[in-house]
Amino acid sequence: MPPASSAGATPRHLVRLHDLEPSAIDDLIDHAQRLKRRAARADLVGRTIGMLFFRGSLRTRTSFEAAVHQLGGHTINLNASSDFWELEDREGTVMDGKAPEHIKDAARALSHYVNALAIRPAPAGQSWAVDRRDAQIASWARHSAVPVINMESALWHPLQALADMMTLRESLGELKGRRLALVWVHSPEPASLAVPHSLLVPALRAGMDVSVAHPTGFGLDDGVVGEAQEAAARAGTKLAVGGSLEDAVRGADVVYARSWQSLEDYGNTTLAASRRARLSSWRVDRKAMELGRDARFMHAMPVRRNVEVTDEVLDGAQSLVQAQAENRLHTQKALLAMLLKVSGAA
Ligand code: CP
Repeated sequence: MPPASSAGATPRHLVRLHDLEPSAIDDLIDHAQRLKRRAARADLVGRTIGMLFFRGSLRTRTSFEAAVHQLGGHTINLNASSDFWELEDREGTVMDGKAPEHIKDAARALSHYVNALAIRPAPAGQSWAVDRRDAQIASWARHSAVPVINMESALWHPLQALADMMTLRESLGELKGRRLALVWVHSPEPASLAVPHSLLVPALRAGMDVSVAHPTGFGLDDGVVGEAQEAAARAGTKLAVGGSLEDAVRGADVVYARSWQSLEDYGNTTLAASRRARLSSWRVDRKAMELGRDARFMHAMPVRRNVEVTDEVLDGAQSLVQAQAENRLHTQKALLAMLLKVSGAA
């Protein structure tokens, strides 16, 4: 099976989950559920997927490689730290700095060899105004002749959000009228904002009311919240942002915990650590879960036990974290089948 670049068609990328219509997300989840019941398929025989990691991953790398292999395909996995070099994303720049190659040239070259490219970029982490442009993943998508899949950029983690939507549907059934509490929790090393950002619009469009709780200074990106407010208005759902963990969790069907960086201290590690040090009470424990309505617990992982959430909640009957991790495998298979136009896919 030659790479799509030979066919000259415009490739379909996945940079953020809500670029897909809600019906397309539902179709992907239906397909993933069929694949979960019946694992053996040969949808990707003869296909090669290139995976480029500019920073580490445990779940995404393993589940993605396993998904491709279980469908009969092949992966080529490259780590920027050991296998290649820094790549330039700015257009028209004089490349006399550290990066010896432009994404434009790398994307065009790799498109000759593989049927899709999955990329986990590494934001520079100095300025949110710069990182929020998501310039690296945008450049790969602009210049690749084969589908580009975002494996977590500064703004978006569509693969996690897709698995999360499947997990929500499996656990709750109909999502209309359900309440999701998306709560900031303390961690000495917070993650990016990509996970909370990515779930907002798909959950609101699926009929859930969403409350985002965070301490002062830990608000989500304004542009992302604005877009989510518009999605809520169109869907007739509610989005509440800010306020305490307890207020968000009260009456919630799902408590989704994540520690994310402060955009106010972005790039200033000393100030950020000092701000976080005062917030260790922001964690999910049994008392918080009991404020919910038979609430399930979700977390994208990696998770710091007894810092972000207690062992009791993480290992308890209401915890969906392992279902989320498992569903990464099934949803990524369905997504690859859709992007590569495998017959019978959603
Ligand atoms: N949830 C997630 O994307 O995990 P990794 O960072 O281990 O890939």
